[in-house]
Amino acid sequence: MKGIILAAGRGTRLYPMTRPVCKPLLPVYDKPLIYYPLSVLIQAGIREVLVIVPPGEVDTFSALLGDGSQLGMDIRYTVQPVARGIADALLIGGDFLAGDDVCLVLGDNIFWAADLDLTLQRAARDNRGGTVFGCRVNDPRPFGVVEFDGDGRAISIEEKPEHPKSNYIVPGLYFYTSQALSIAAGLAPSARGELEITDVNLEYLRRDSLRVIPLEDNYVWLDAGSADSLLTAAQTIHALQHGGRYVGCIEECAFRQGWITEGQLRALGQPMAMTAYGQYLLSIQL
Ligand code: G1P
Repeated sequence: MKGIILAAGRGTRLYPMTRPVCKPLLPVYDKPLIYYPLSVLIQAGIREVLVIVPPGEVDTFSALLGDGSQLGMDIRYTVQPVARGIADALLIGGDFLAGDDVCLVLGDNIFWAADLDLTLQRAARDNRGGTVFGCRVNDPRPFGVVEFDGDGRAISIEEKPEHPKSNYIVPGLYFYTSQALSIAAGLAPSARGELEITDVNLEYLRRDSLRVIPLEDNYVWLDAGSADSLLTAAQTIHALQHGGRYVGCIEECAFRQGWITEGQLRALGQPMAMTAYGQYLLSIQL
């Protein structure tokens, strides 16, 4: 399975912050936003990752993450020329995927749970079509909303409904078989002119091969698309880390996967030893 991070949004809802710096590079507390979805892919056990960025931004992203070899990974970059929607990422990533299954994660989604790595690895291993998650939120209207029947089976998903049928939203993390590519290729743009990821999920649902895993309330899901949600995300990460639970530390995740040695981990921490982040890297034990 390969990974795609869709980090191509300019982040217009965060202007003026995102005029010179695009959204996935903004800080969320002590690290850039894109560290969080990248750490999700690493915890899922995915070593080959394509990062899709806005036009003209390959250099800024690769200045941050390089070719991934420092993490024992292979990270590549490509651009999304026009903001054509999330499902477009599957088409852009077609050559990179070369027929493999994919885990697609949005560049502004943050996940945390004590056992997140196990949940992700299980989802990747057991996926037979599409596997997505359901998170309970107070106001589901800005998201993809999933409706379950009495037996807990997903029966409908609606994108940004005015009258949501439940409080469960589908966050920006999707596991798909290689069929996703032909499904995406067959989509027509929605009313907002985008290839909707909800339509990919609906097609898997129609084929009876979509699994929606509800996440309990001990799972943290945050999207950082507006000034308020960015602040809430930073405060949540701050609180978790001060409680001893580090979130989004890509170097730690790669070390725990056994992709880099303790010596390599310390070498990554050393130049940042003046920060709490660097000191954390220097203190991690298996
Ligand atoms: C997108 C998806 C939506 C999903 C959300 C998660 O919304 O379309 O289904 O729930 O991401 O962040 P958008 O970012 O396009 O508003």
